[in-house]
Amino acid sequence: MDRPYILIVSEVTIDGKLTLAKGVSSKEIMKLMDEEANKYLHRIRAECDGIMVGANTVRIDNPNLTVRYVEGKNPIRVIPTSSGNIPLDANVLNTNVAPTVIAVSERVPADRIKAFKKKGAEVVVAGKERIDFVELLKKLKSMGIEKLMVEGGSSVNWELIRNDLVDEIRLIHLPVVVGGDDVPSLTSGEGFKTLDAVKRFRIKRVFQCGNQVITEYLRS
Ligand SMILES: NC(=O)c1ccc[n+]([C@@H]2O[C@H](COP(=O)([O-])OP(=O)(O)OC[C@H]3O[C@@H](n4cnc5c(N)ncnc54)[C@H](OP(=O)(O)O)[C@@H]3O)[C@@H](O)[C@H]2O)c1
Repeated sequence: MDRPYILIVSEVTIDGKLTLAKGVSSKEIMKLMDEEANKYLHRIRAECDGIMVGANTVRIDNPNLTVRYVEGKNPIRVIPTSSGNIPLDANVLNTNVAPTVIAVSERVPADRIKAFKKKGAEVVVAGKERIDFVELLKKLKSMGIEKLMVEGGSSVNWELIRNDLVDEIRLIHLPVVVGGDDVPSLTSGEGFKTLDAVKRFRIKRVFQCGNQVITEYLRS
């Protein structure tokens, strides 16, 4: 396989939402996660060579994407941005803590790329106007990333699933309902619309972890 094994891991509400409202950090709803769920999540981070979130998650949540609840090595943080719009004071650009790859499209200006490099990040170019995930994943594999965890958000999840690039999905179900038409759920995008087109997964494991239910699916 000329790409890493890809695992989407996400916290979702009973109604499949990723956060409390559009534009609101998922750190809020993640406060509901108990120690056991955090350990589950961070154990997966420690097992992966890389961890990816979309640039909008960086802009909204400003995550660290490090391993904290268990002992283990931080994965390489990978942030795809077609625009290059990542705040230079974002936590993921604190490369003293963990290595970071910023993936950009060809349209990102050279001075922006220079600024990312000055922060200690590696910059990978993949795609003309938007990130081409097939090309990016090939490059990540050649950099030694064999297993890549993807922690959202909806747009990146959709783009990967749409392109048939997801091997596994693991969901931490938070026992709350959030509601709201425009609140991001596990995926966004145009949707598959027909039963023939839907992407199918099969159940690997279901179990209770603290106050959460965890479901794990493999690609069919
Ligand atoms: N519950 C959870 O587990 C969890 C986890 C993560 C995030 N979230 C929540 O999810 C929300 C953010 O989700 P989101 O869907 O708005 O954003 P997202 O998926 O995090 O990021 C989307 C961004 O990724 C970049 N990108 C580059 N190439 C792309 C491509 N080919 N297709 C799509 N995106 C591409 C673009 O950045 P540029 O605009 O810079 O070009 C795009 O705006 C936040 O509210 C966050 O709190 C929840």
